[in-house]
Amino acid sequence: MSKYTLSVNGQTMTAEVDDDTPLLWVLRDHLNLLGTKFGCGVAQCGACTVHMNGNAVRSCVLPISAVSDNEIVTIEGLSESGEHPLQKAWVENDVSQCGYCQAGQIMAAAALLTKNPKPTDQEIDRSITNICRCGTHVRIRKAIHSASEKL
Ligand code: FES
Ligand code: FES
Repeated sequence: MSKYTLSVNGQTMTAEVDDDTPLLWVLRDHLNLLGTKFGCGVAQCGACTVHMNGNAVRSCVLPISAVSDNEIVTIEGLSESGEHPLQKAWVENDVSQCGYCQAGQIMAAAALLTKNPKPTDQEIDRSITNICRCGTHVRIRKAIHSASEKL
């Protein structure tokens, strides 16, 4: 066990965990940030996507020992009140079906728009490889285009 001091959503947080504990479990089990979901656990589905220094990362395979001083942002930290243009576009376009994958989808979309504010459908597909078992990918694309007009 080691004690880790982390920057999560702009706050300093601590957790005492084994060095190989995945960031996802630290977020969910130790910091009570339950918006980030566990799906496959093997970096395939993207349900666990958060930002590390602005980049989308799959927190289920990222050991806490690799996080150190990096800035982590989870869906809870994307905006304080759910007012981020992507969150609003998700609501306006009624994107979610079961909703399980959507926090990860939004975090992947936010990282994409930071680097590419006006992505094409092809660029969205290439960049966001998150899986949605409900098949909401068409509405996800639509919402990303809509949010990109407002950023
Ligand atoms: S739970 Fe991390 S990619 Fe599926
Ligand atoms: S909305 Fe159900 S898995 Fe994506």
